[in-house]
Amino acid sequence: MTVLFTDKRLKFPEGFLWGAATASHQVEGGIENNDWAQAARAGKVPVCGRACDHYNLFERDFDIAVSLGHNAHKISLEWSRIEPRDGEFDREEIEHYKQVLAALKRRNLKAFVCIWHFTLPDWFVKRGGFFAPDAEKIFVRYAGKVASELGDKIDFLITINEPNIYASNTHLRGLWPPFIKNPFSYLRLLNGLVRCHRAAFSEIKKVAPALPVGISKNNIYFHSNKNPIHQFSTAYIKWFWNRRFLNKIDEHLDFIGLNYYFHKGWGTHGNHEKTDFGWDICPEGIFHVLLELERYRKPIYIIENGLADAADTRRANFIRDHVTYIHKAIEQEIDVRGYLHWSLLDNYEWAEGFEKRFGLVEVDYRTHERRIRKSALYFKEVCQSNAV
Ligand code: BGC
Repeated sequence: MTVLFTDKRLKFPEGFLWGAATASHQVEGGIENNDWAQAARAGKVPVCGRACDHYNLFERDFDIAVSLGHNAHKISLEWSRIEPRDGEFDREEIEHYKQVLAALKRRNLKAFVCIWHFTLPDWFVKRGGFFAPDAEKIFVRYAGKVASELGDKIDFLITINEPNIYASNTHLRGLWPPFIKNPFSYLRLLNGLVRCHRAAFSEIKKVAPALPVGISKNNIYFHSNKNPIHQFSTAYIKWFWNRRFLNKIDEHLDFIGLNYYFHKGWGTHGNHEKTDFGWDICPEGIFHVLLELERYRKPIYIIENGLADAADTRRANFIRDHVTYIHKAIEQEIDVRGYLHWSLLDNYEWAEGFEKRFGLVEVDYRTHERRIRKSALYFKEVCQSNAV
């Protein structure tokens, strides 16, 4: 791959995709029949309510994305809207998502669509969720329906968002519905998700053979000092968290979607700036994590990378530094083809509610007004010049 240097700026390969991501429950509003809405009614997580009202304002939001120089966008589909009852698909909601996808196409925004981003329909939970004996069949039925109804309007389909984060927060750390802390359930769930992905992949290929199918994988930059015990732990956790799931689905994967947020060092004392969440900012980590993905020999798209920064004082540098390290990975022949920032809009940050601000665009949750942050204009310049 040729990488051009112009005026000391780092130029990205032609056709590189730039944009931002969102997910249904976090932005759409008005979702009442999934496990998160249920948990909110039970007072266990913050109420999501109308969120950003993106369900109604999507055209306006996509206009903003275009005005910010984006040429790609990631949404997720709300399973509980499309299949509100076991085996019953909702025609109106399918039509709604057709409109959403048509709106992306009209604006020449390449559509990345994740069919499942953390939330489960109530009826599926009642049947045991991913532990139900026929969970795989149920997930495949849903994936097949999406591919046949919407496949021709999708550019990149993602089956599952962050299986490791999902399984860990729901069944190991007990932070998300159904709030379980059990390492055995956690492992069973992860293995179940592997089977669901593989089966969904095969089904989607039958219905829409040309549609690229991938996963969104949260990978962490694990590193250590020279202490052999630290090095051993690092190697083990790296395999377990970053590679185990991917190894199991390698034959059922057209591209890898990478979500990068975290690093974890053993015996190292880096001095990192923090986000509003208290998370370390570690841009070099994205370079190492990308290098680790080389073994799979698949195209890579960064599907999520971002920070909580309400004052917008760190976001522009955060983008500049991460994107610079992505460029460095491309120079080393890593096949990275796009970068989507998390997120286009401030949104419902799961158990944290609305306080944390991840948006390139600020949302006033009372009036639903949008206000473009300064960092979004910095990112616009990167997108439009295809360079950093
Ligand atoms: C998730 C998003 C979340 C973001 C920031 C990712 O793990 O996919 O839903 O909002 O991280 O925490």
